Amino acid sequence: MIIIKSEKELQLMREAGAVTARILHELSEMIKPGITTKEVDDFVEQIILENRMIPAFKGYNGYPANACTSVNDEVVHGIPSKTRRLLEGDIISVDAGTIYKGYYSDAARTYPVGRTDEAAERLITVTRESFYEGLKFCKAGFRLSDISHAIQQYVENNGFSVVRDYVGHGIGKMMHEEPQIPNYGIPGRGPRLAAGMAFAIEPMVNEGDWQIKVMTDNWTVKTLDGKRSAHYENTVIITEEEPLLLTELSAIEGSL
Ligand code: MF3
Ligand code: CO
Repeated sequence: MIIIKSEKELQLMREAGAVTARILHELSEMIKPGITTKEVDDFVEQIILENRMIPAFKGYNGYPANACTSVNDEVVHGIPSKTRRLLEGDIISVDAGTIYKGYYSDAARTYPVGRTDEAAERLITVTRESFYEGLKFCKAGFRLSDISHAIQQYVENNGFSVVRDYVGHGIGKMMHEEPQIPNYGIPGRGPRLAAGMAFAIEPMVNEGDWQIKVMTDNWTVKTLDGKRSAHYENTVIITEEEPLLLTELSAIEGSL
């Protein structure tokens, strides 16, 4: 069952999302060659606690940190580490979320570390743009797989592949609610979207093949072929009109 949120619930999710939006925005300044992924995690924690919210990831299924920091060929769920220092030319995906009065937000971005090569820039850009292709179908009346299909088409038309083993999801009182939202599929299938649904839409895009492997820490997911991967995620509310993007700073400015 897909839970329809009330106005009151959406307001709490908005507040949760605003803090996640600010974190991801500020990380683009903070991420530079020489910092460690643990320092990224500490920053995420600091902003969440300053805002009197709860880090959504810490302790989730035993996850040991506040953010996921996934570098280069790491797809998602990379665990922050004091010894992982970012190098010029790396790319890093940071995924983070907050809980405010029982309601979740969840979002991710991929950042270049200093100057990166053109292929990395293109991977990051296509991943972000694929999210916006999916967003065109985040409106009451479309079917769930219309989102999936739009993302897949855009990614593959640009020569990249979408990860199959991990998916977007409903979000609300739990980080993962129904439905699962694959980033691939044929259009016109699945439930019809309705106002008040809340989704985390999150394309994970690989430079090479879509296959992944989970490392022995049981968290870190890497590409099987060793090529790089990027991630872009926002918490989105379905309405009769344009969707509301709760975790994108440029979209929420002025509405807070
Ligand atoms: N943001 C991830 C997702 O979209 C969840 C991170 S898993 C955690 O599903 F364990 F780190 F929380
Ligand atoms: Co998510």
